[in-house]
Amino acid sequence: MSLFRKKTVSQILTDAEKGEAGTMVKTLGVRDLTSFGIAAIIGAGIFSTIGLASYNGGPAVSLLFVFTAIACVFTALSYAQFASTVPVSGSAYTYAYVAFGEIFAWVIGWALILEYAVSNMVVAISWSEYFTSMLAGFGILFPKYLAIDYGSASRAYDLVQQTTQAGKAVSTLPDNTRVLADAFAAAPSIGGLKLIANLPAGAVTVLITALVYIGIKESRTASNILVILKLAVIGLVIAVGAFYVKPANWSPFAPNGISGVLSGVASVFFAFIGFDSISTTAEECKNPQRDLPRAMLYCLGICTILYVLITLVLTGMVNYKELGVSDPLAYVFQKVQLDFVAGVISVSAVVAITSALLVYQLGQPRIWMTMSRDGLLWKRFATIHPKFKTPSFATIITGILVAVPSMFMDLKFFVDLTSVGTFFAFILVCAGILFLDAKGLSTQSKFKVPYVNGKYIIGLVLLVVLTESLLNSHHLLETLEAKPLLGVFWLVWAVLAVMGYQRNFSLLPVIGILTNLYLMTELGASNWLIFVIWLVIGLVIYFSYGFRHSKLAQSEAVSA
Ligand code: ALA
Repeated sequence: MSLFRKKTVSQILTDAEKGEAGTMVKTLGVRDLTSFGIAAIIGAGIFSTIGLASYNGGPAVSLLFVFTAIACVFTALSYAQFASTVPVSGSAYTYAYVAFGEIFAWVIGWALILEYAVSNMVVAISWSEYFTSMLAGFGILFPKYLAIDYGSASRAYDLVQQTTQAGKAVSTLPDNTRVLADAFAAAPSIGGLKLIANLPAGAVTVLITALVYIGIKESRTASNILVILKLAVIGLVIAVGAFYVKPANWSPFAPNGISGVLSGVASVFFAFIGFDSISTTAEECKNPQRDLPRAMLYCLGICTILYVLITLVLTGMVNYKELGVSDPLAYVFQKVQLDFVAGVISVSAVVAITSALLVYQLGQPRIWMTMSRDGLLWKRFATIHPKFKTPSFATIITGILVAVPSMFMDLKFFVDLTSVGTFFAFILVCAGILFLDAKGLSTQSKFKVPYVNGKYIIGLVLLVVLTESLLNSHHLLETLEAKPLLGVFWLVWAVLAVMGYQRNFSLLPVIGILTNLYLMTELGASNWLIFVIWLVIGLVIYFSYGFRHSKLAQSEAVSA
């Protein structure tokens, strides 16, 4: 069936050799790769969304970081096997082309827009937050209504109104809500519509896009320096912050219970996204088979330790309820009157977040370029600028796509959307390993996910968990009623148990699928729905263009 036409590994390798990729210099070692990984991972997540997660879950969010890291480790192993089998730059998109066929490759490529472009909207918004707080440190007050989104401001304003009408003191509301409400009130209006937009977020995206357009290359040295800067800021927060921790703030550890902690899944997962991006450098590695897996695990390990420590410090310095801000790292230091440290953090955060913005703003057009070369997107997406040698059209589209929404929308919406799309891509990559094994293609992999036979374990653990829940049947039904998406999780587990029994599935990718899927169910039905709509739009585009223009389809037609 042509929907599932697949590229073979050798076909992909030959294509890569023929293209410019064949000439790439193989210089990257494990240390560079780890550094690239950290460059991509540490961004808006730790500087911003960690605040939202801690606000919802309290200090216990630190444990969520550990659990999420486990899901990421299993995924990283699967990425590593693919990267060693098909060491070319298309990442998950290319892997799906080999494992599942074209339509899945398209779907993953389409989902990666959420991981790259949409996540960059979050990064841009978070940049804006630190930028204005940096300006404030220098005594320059940027009008707040020109640095926020309309929805958040108007919601905060309504909340303040309701609080006043209910006769309660506005001071009972979090600082951030009052600041947003004031900004809403202060914004000029035209024809009854308040003029509110996040200008710095839009402006920085345009600037970075311009840099990417004229061909700035993330050189190894620059990346290494920026990583040191990022690690230094985070080290500073932990080292100085530790002295201001009041253990009383850690109690209660999970003030809103497990559900409060789990409501931070999107924000926490967001902070880990990016370790997979180093797989796109496979063609420039000295020894990708050995170094990519190691580097992914190292950068995940380092970031997990830092994230756990930083969450404990933040939630120890102030009450978790104070952390619902977009610049928590600087905010907590202002709160303890360490304005100088807050200033240093803001300035360094601006630089650090800019580098994350650059990584994804560079990555997105290149994924589109690969898809366009395969004939799945319009040819213009692969146009290379004659002078700057960059995918110029795709870069401009990425710029517009990121800049406009980042000026008007709310950070949380994008965090959720990015996470749901990325979980989906991760699940397919883990599943791809099972597929490679089943088709005997794993023999071509130089690095393999360590094989543990899951024949019995997958089903047995499912039985234990289900029996335990059934003994408590009231509980199971209640849970399913409250979270119908868990039904999908159980169903997938059951299918994996049966297939695993028949085909001796490798256990680790299965754990990868299940942990990612479980976390994904926590994102809630509305996010799944938006994601499904996103996929449907993607499929419409595929069937109206890519399906017919696919190079693979054309070459198959010729050979037929
Ligand atoms: N992990 C990346 C960040 O936090 C996406 O910005």
